[in-house]
Amino acid sequence: MKVAIGCDHGGIDLKNTVVAVLIELGHVVDDQGCNSTDSVDYPNFARSVSSLVKDGECECGILICGTGIGMSMAANRIPGIRAALCNEMFSAKMSREHNDANILCLGARVIGPGLAAEIVRTWMTSEFAGGRHQRRIDMF
Ligand code: RB5
Repeated sequence: MKVAIGCDHGGIDLKNTVVAVLIELGHVVDDQGCNSTDSVDYPNFARSVSSLVKDGECECGILICGTGIGMSMAANRIPGIRAALCNEMFSAKMSREHNDANILCLGARVIGPGLAAEIVRTWMTSEFAGGRHQRRIDMF
C-alpha cells in the first residue's frame, strides 16, 4: 500500500519509528514532513496528508502530533476523511473494522514507540467489515 505520513515538531521521532514499521511491512511511504523540531502548525500537515488520501494518491495516512488530537480534528474537517485517534490496539482494530478509518492519528507525547509500532501494525492489517457499518458511514 502507499501510505501518506505527516507530523508536527512534536511527532518527528515517532514518525521515524512509524516509517520504519511501514517499510518493514512492505508499504511505500509518502513522507509529507515535517523534518525538524522547529515549531510548525499541524493543520498544514493534516491537510497535505488528507489531500493525498482523499484524492486516492495514497490508500491511507498516518498523522502524528503531540497528542494526536489536533491532527485528528484538522483531518476530519476534510470531506471523505475518517481520521481515528488511537492510543491502544482495540481502538486501532475497531477504527478499521467498524469505521473504515482512512487516517490513523497518534499522540507522540501520549504513547511510546513500542506501543505505537504495535498500533500501526494492528491498524495496517485490520480490514473494514462493511455491511451495517457501511450504512452508518454513509450517514455521515
Ligand atoms: C504542539 O505543541 C502541540 O499542540 C501539537 O503537537 C498537538 O498536540 C496538538 O494537538
